[in-house]
Amino acid sequence: MPLENAMTADFLRSAYGGESMAHMRYTIWADVADKENMPNIGRLFRAIAYAEWAHARNHFQELREQKGDFTVPAGAVFGMGKTVDNLIGARNGELHEIEQMYPVYLESSRFQNEKGAERSFHYALEAEKIHARLFEEARKSAEKGMDMALGPVHICQICGHTVVEGIPDVCPICGAKKEQFRTFAA
Ligand SMILES: [Fe+2]
Ligand SMILES: [Fe+2]
Repeated sequence: MPLENAMTADFLRSAYGGESMAHMRYTIWADVADKENMPNIGRLFRAIAYAEWAHARNHFQELREQKGDFTVPAGAVFGMGKTVDNLIGARNGELHEIEQMYPVYLESSRFQNEKGAERSFHYALEAEKIHARLFEEARKSAEKGMDMALGPVHICQICGHTVVEGIPDVCPICGAKKEQFRTFAA
């Protein structure tokens, strides 16, 4: 179904911009964590960067009929600090998405009966809740100058669902089979 509504299209473009920048920012901060000898936190950043890539791709796909050039305003956290600071920035970015951005985008896509956009926003919102929690866990370790304890991180390639407790048979968010999860192991 092509998009019918300009407002939903604007929100999809902005969310695409935000996710794209989060993807980039987390890969940059992953290298900082590695340099501080916190490889698990580096791996967490890389795994979550991959989830943000999946969100950006989903939003981009929903915009498939909207061809051409656009200027895209989007929220982005800046700051190149120590890992403990970067984790605070990362969590704040996720909280903005959880508390402000995605709930509004989700409701407006529902109001405008844009099913594809609604699904894409829903997938992202659910994953960001887990990201905020994992970044907070990581921050508690980094604050003590320690790497976090972290087993394999599994990311659903379809929706970005992020799991540290083992791969589920079926993704609880999008219904994808376990083969669709990509694992970031130490
Ligand atoms: Fe996220
Ligand atoms: Fe999924």
